[in-house]
Amino acid sequence: MSAPNSDYDPVEVTPLHPDEIARMRDEALAAVAAADSVAALKQVRIDHAGDRSPLALANREIGALPPQARKEAGQRVGQARGAVTQALAARTAEVESAELERALEAEKVDVTLPTDGRRPGARHPVTTISEHVADIFVAMGWEVAEGPEVEAEWLNFDALNLGPDHPARTMQDTFWVSPEQAATVLRTHTSPVQARTMLTRKPPIYVVCPGRVFRTDELDATHSPVFHQVEGLAIDEGLSMAHLKGTLDHFAQAIYGDGMTTRFRPSYFPFTEPSAEMDLLCYVCHNEPADVASCRTCKGEGWVEWGGCGVVNPRVLTACGVDPERYSGFAFGIGLDRTITGRYDIADLRDLFDGDVRFTEPFGVEL
Ligand code: PHE
Repeated sequence: MSAPNSDYDPVEVTPLHPDEIARMRDEALAAVAAADSVAALKQVRIDHAGDRSPLALANREIGALPPQARKEAGQRVGQARGAVTQALAARTAEVESAELERALEAEKVDVTLPTDGRRPGARHPVTTISEHVADIFVAMGWEVAEGPEVEAEWLNFDALNLGPDHPARTMQDTFWVSPEQAATVLRTHTSPVQARTMLTRKPPIYVVCPGRVFRTDELDATHSPVFHQVEGLAIDEGLSMAHLKGTLDHFAQAIYGDGMTTRFRPSYFPFTEPSAEMDLLCYVCHNEPADVASCRTCKGEGWVEWGGCGVVNPRVLTACGVDPERYSGFAFGIGLDRTITGRYDIADLRDLFDGDVRFTEPFGVEL
């Protein structure tokens, strides 16, 4: 402990000496100028403008001065601190904008660069609906069967009770595969898969077969020489038309929702007896009196054609090695293309067959 210094001149107290204040200020300004990041500035702010910075500490000394000296010292320190605060603000703005610039530059995306141009593509609606139909039947315990598109005449016709002179052969305008003696056709329906299945499996049989079929139709907005069907065949003991109706109604509901139903109109197919044309309740207007007249999908009918069906003719069972005394069954064939064009309001059937990805893309990539 030293004795009080009687010569002590508070104006000369070192931290408040004008040179010393100027030095602190200049040091602070130099540190501000040297800081080149927001983080560095934060440290500079603590060191030179914070509570424990030399200028803040000098400020505290002012109180120790005689009253007449306080004003001048206060001004000096205040000016110095003001200069530092200002410099900090200016430098912060500068550094922040430089950092933003740098980030923008670093994250820049050149939208004019060439891409690799490969589009993901999409599944064709025929594929999607075929698989959807197969799934519905597989869920009931059925199996999926397949057959060739180039088919033996015997399987496409004879086995199905369409003998060589049967007038119904002309119902299906056939593409014959040359040479003629080969007795080979492009299958005119998926029904030969019925014959193939019965010839290779023992009942009970429950199969569906989606596939491509061919007829010599002109290509126009509503016809195509290539189209798609899904065949169904059930052979078991005691099966009847009632099982057929129940199966088709379930199928219609699985695709179009509750309340869907089908209706049968008497018809003729050589391979089924009795036979029916099958219509689906119009899935747009539901045959509601208020909507049906103006419905474009069913054209005011209330029903849309869906396919043919019936109880398998015993002659077909016999031809395919199934005992008609023990077994009976039902079959149906449904047109898939019209189902798609109706459902998606596609005006021109040809769109389904053009192979243009711009058509398939909106259907998405369903997996
Ligand atoms: N194969 C028939 C057709 O293409 C449809 C059908 C299948 C009818 C099964 C009855 C039973 O027109």
